[in-house]
Amino acid sequence: MALREILHYPDPRLRTVAKPVEVFDDSIRTLVKDMAETMYAAPGIGLAATQIDVHQRVIVIDITPDKSDLKVFINPQLTDLHGETVMEEGCLSVPGVYDNVQRAERIRVQAMDENGKPFEMAADDLLAVCIQHEIDHLDGKVFVDYLSPLKQQRIGKKLQKRQRVAL
Ligand code: NI
Repeated sequence: MALREILHYPDPRLRTVAKPVEVFDDSIRTLVKDMAETMYAAPGIGLAATQIDVHQRVIVIDITPDKSDLKVFINPQLTDLHGETVMEEGCLSVPGVYDNVQRAERIRVQAMDENGKPFEMAADDLLAVCIQHEIDHLDGKVFVDYLSPLKQQRIGKKLQKRQRVAL
């Protein structure tokens, strides 16, 4: 296993639309392990492969405080969206920035696990928001896209400055 480097907004590679996984081999299982390790080390509650510059439709999520419930979603698809909720979101690719985003409150998602086995599940509240946030990454979207243009500009400047300093 290995920690992978997380891309930071406004890195243009975060805009790449990920391709579906077609072959469920050891390289996918290694990717999932590396993503879980990278997410836990950050620490974060979700990570999409896009964020480590791998453009395949793979997501890991664990919203438990004790890292006890790793969920893996490969080729995830939302099948049902209900209600509305507003939550303050953050993102490992947008360090230090938190803001309110409106999303569906309850969802159903179809996906496959790291062995290619299909499953479907319902999710609400934080888990539902997290799944929607991570699927956005696979489509090249970042949560700041939902904020006002002025806020997006400020966040972009702030993070560019931070990257220059971090050299
Ligand atoms: Ni994110």
